[in-house]
Amino acid sequence: MWKIKDLPINGRAVLAPMAGITTLSYRNFYKPFGVALSYTEMVSDMGLIHNNSITYTYLESSHLDHPLAIQLFGGSKETLVEAIKIIENGNYNYDVLDINLGCPVPKVTKAGAGSAWLKRPKELFDAMEAVVKASTKPVTAKIRLGWDVSTINFLEVIEGLEKAGVAMIALHLRTRAELYSGKVDYEIARDLGRKMRVPLVISGDIYSLDQAISAIEITGASAVMLARGAMGNPHLVKQIDHYYKTGERLAEATLAEQISYMRTYAKMLVEQKGEQTAVKMLRGILPKFLNHYPFMKEYKMILVNKIVTYADIESVLNQIEVEHLNKTIKI
Ligand SMILES: Cc1cc2nc3c(=O)[nH]c(=O)nc-3n(C[C@H](O)[C@H](O)[C@H](O)COP(=O)(O)O)c2cc1C
Repeated sequence: MWKIKDLPINGRAVLAPMAGITTLSYRNFYKPFGVALSYTEMVSDMGLIHNNSITYTYLESSHLDHPLAIQLFGGSKETLVEAIKIIENGNYNYDVLDINLGCPVPKVTKAGAGSAWLKRPKELFDAMEAVVKASTKPVTAKIRLGWDVSTINFLEVIEGLEKAGVAMIALHLRTRAELYSGKVDYEIARDLGRKMRVPLVISGDIYSLDQAISAIEITGASAVMLARGAMGNPHLVKQIDHYYKTGERLAEATLAEQISYMRTYAKMLVEQKGEQTAVKMLRGILPKFLNHYPFMKEYKMILVNKIVTYADIESVLNQIEVEHLNKTIKI
């Protein structure tokens, strides 16, 4: 067990924030596999200030959805503090306030938010001090190595954030310039977690239990953050959680298990978002559950391109069951 300030975190598998992915349904679905900490999708400070109704939906949580970090992004100290006041006054059920200092998207960085903060560390530390003061919940931050290869400054940023009162730091081991490509190298952060005053969470390329073990061993992080590697592979959360609680290694999920996960998750998202929106989102996620299983290419193509209703999804899943799991169709 480790802690974010006084908040106990029971496990080493953290579910990464992912805009457009880590909806309440996604978090509720992944939670029972052993998620130690979840994050909302990133929430715009200006969206809150200007009363954007979609922004407010990102703040929804459930009784199961804990510990939960609300992830806020914004480009100035003043607007971040104003947004925190709105969250504080809004009776939202969350445990941690996280500030996004890593988002590389131009729309975000042009406003000075996300990874653009890494280019102005002095202003960042001043803003984070104010954020920590404004928040009654522990404040964490998610950063990158730096803006680009010639301005790698994560050590300086981490030190400043610690001084500002930040209670945990998640480090994505890529620069802003790398966006999401290229393999990450855990050696860049060797022993970092062992030297820091606050816990470190490592993000980047965690696709297997062995990668999680290496990342934790090399960096001394308290946990790993699961992003693309766990999309369609909730079992990875279970493998990591179980390994660190028992020392045992669990097998990969079977195709039958994956089909049942797809059904459950699709139903949850349809319930939260309505069929039309949910199915659009599911086109991006469901095919990933079939990666690494033979003879699934054709079904993945249908899921990516053709599904329109929940019934279409059922029909694909039934077909896989009949053709690959030797099930008969009930009439
Ligand atoms: C589709 C997508 C959306 C993301 N959205 C966010 C976000 O809202 N906030 C954030 O801090 N990171 C976000 N990230 C970054 C991830 O949390 C993670 O740090 C990154 O993907 C590296 O991990 P990976 O190599 O295991 O995918 C996003 C990543 C992806 C792929």
